[in-house]
Amino acid sequence: MTRHFITIDALSREQLVAICAAAREVDASVLEHDEIALVFERPSLRTRAAAATAVHDLGGRVTFFGDDEIGLDSRESAEDIGRTLAQMYSVAAMRLRRHADFERIRRATQDSLALINLMSERAHPTQALADVLTIADYLADGDVTGLAGVRVAYLGDVTNVARSLAVALLLLGASVSLAAPAPYQLADSAVEDPRAISGELTLTESIPEALEGADVVYTDTWISMGLEAEAARRRQDLGAFQVNDATLALASPGAIVMHCLPAHRGEEITDDVLDGPQSVVWRQVFHRRSAMRGALRWIKEEDQ
Ligand code: CP
Ligand code: NVA
Repeated sequence: MTRHFITIDALSREQLVAICAAAREVDASVLEHDEIALVFERPSLRTRAAAATAVHDLGGRVTFFGDDEIGLDSRESAEDIGRTLAQMYSVAAMRLRRHADFERIRRATQDSLALINLMSERAHPTQALADVLTIADYLADGDVTGLAGVRVAYLGDVTNVARSLAVALLLLGASVSLAAPAPYQLADSAVEDPRAISGELTLTESIPEALEGADVVYTDTWISMGLEAEAARRRQDLGAFQVNDATLALASPGAIVMHCLPAHRGEEITDDVLDGPQSVVWRQVFHRRSAMRGALRWIKEEDQ
């Protein structure tokens, strides 16, 4: 059975813990005979860099395809792109506009091509892996099984990043509060829904409620890729949810501050906080590469 890595909610807690352990290892024999396609329908710095360097760590080779080259559903169908890639690649790691296209490609290739989600509008699972590795480094001596009881507050638009992060944290026994104005709260979706995971999840409009006792304060952009037309309204609606010195003072003393990046300094987070002593954003970036190793090892393990 081909394994895929498309959402965190497809994993058991044990599988998530195993992937996090594998993420920290470098073994150049894992992808020795593998060609990996990296497909990006949207821009990327960190994810592309992490995917390319992680494949190199594991001994494989990558080809990069941008949006214009691939032309998903404009130049040819998602199904035919998948069928084509499956002739030459063992793995396609893809950043797609529409999450549902993973399923189209999976069906069309009859599971002959392993798929990794490098972000869709619904989920960003490799980011979530990097984030739990980072939290573990700061709060649990690097052991993700030590995250039980850690309190994580997320402020702002409840994005793809927030969804995957919340699912991963709940699987690991952390408690999660998502604070957002009602229209920006967790959307109903069959995919990567933290409400489907048992654990301590709070959805609130109250910033003080979310931040009380928080060990981690996390935020993401208010204007995710594809939502640029709503920028002005979003800045207005979400302004009160900025992570700044005043909001940070409501969390536990010494709480760590996280952001998936790219940051919009002065919008969802201030320079002072992003560049301040509590920020761990560069460690998150470091672990993007570890996380990609974990995801790649996970899908290859089945072959071995
Ligand atoms: N955090 C993240 O996915 O960054 P990129 O969009 O630059 O890949
Ligand atoms: N929520 C953001 C994450 C970027 C890494 C987006 O979808 O654009």
